[in-house]
Amino acid sequence: MENVFIMDHPLIQHKISMLRDYQTGTNEFRKLVEEIAVLMGYEAFRDLPMEEVEVTTPIETCKTPMISGKKLAVVPILRAGLGMVNGILTLVPSAKVGHIGLYRDPETHEPREYYCKLPESIGQRLVTVVDPMLATGGSAVAAIDFIKERGGKQIKFLCIIGAPEGIKRLREAHPDVQIYCGHVDRELNANAYICPGLGDAGDRIFGTK
Ligand code: PRP
Ligand code: URA
Repeated sequence: MENVFIMDHPLIQHKISMLRDYQTGTNEFRKLVEEIAVLMGYEAFRDLPMEEVEVTTPIETCKTPMISGKKLAVVPILRAGLGMVNGILTLVPSAKVGHIGLYRDPETHEPREYYCKLPESIGQRLVTVVDPMLATGGSAVAAIDFIKERGGKQIKFLCIIGAPEGIKRLREAHPDVQIYCGHVDRELNANAYICPGLGDAGDRIFGTK
């Protein structure tokens, strides 16, 4: 599927299996989410623009590639997306961080916004939206709607687990957005939870119920 990239790397798959285990505690879960974000970010940033710069080594001066001055932003969808931010910042430490607060209405499962603060000149940045879970796709679509309304143009979306329903909805709403997904699970259940999934990512990252 165009603009959908499934991360089938063994390290990512192994760590996702550890996340799924209901016996994995908060501390380990949080570390795994961050580690997976590093591995996924490594893949997702493969197409960052490069430029040749002149560098003088102890031997001689040469032309050598570096990432060009592209401005970057990471935007977690609160709360669970916060768990992926430090992983991305490990790779691109100078990226600015925006926040979009959404929660799913327990009855309708549709997202409700409670917070949005994005870095300035969002239209000139490569915006990487992060959220471990893409279930119905409502939250991802709404977050990307906000970013585009505020001028965002070049957007990537990173999720650790996606449901087929969510990938389809996000693809249809925002076909220009590159979706990076750690694993595509089977389906959603009647409560719009991903099966087999890993439960409620926010609760497991923050140790709430
Ligand atoms: C979870 C998850 C996504 C959303 C995915 O957040 O982190 O943001 O659900 O579901 P969707 O694709 O059906 O919109 P939740 O609303 O539980 O909030 P939380 O991160 O604060 O726990
Ligand atoms: N949000 C989660 O945290 N888990 C799911 O399975 C679905 C939405």
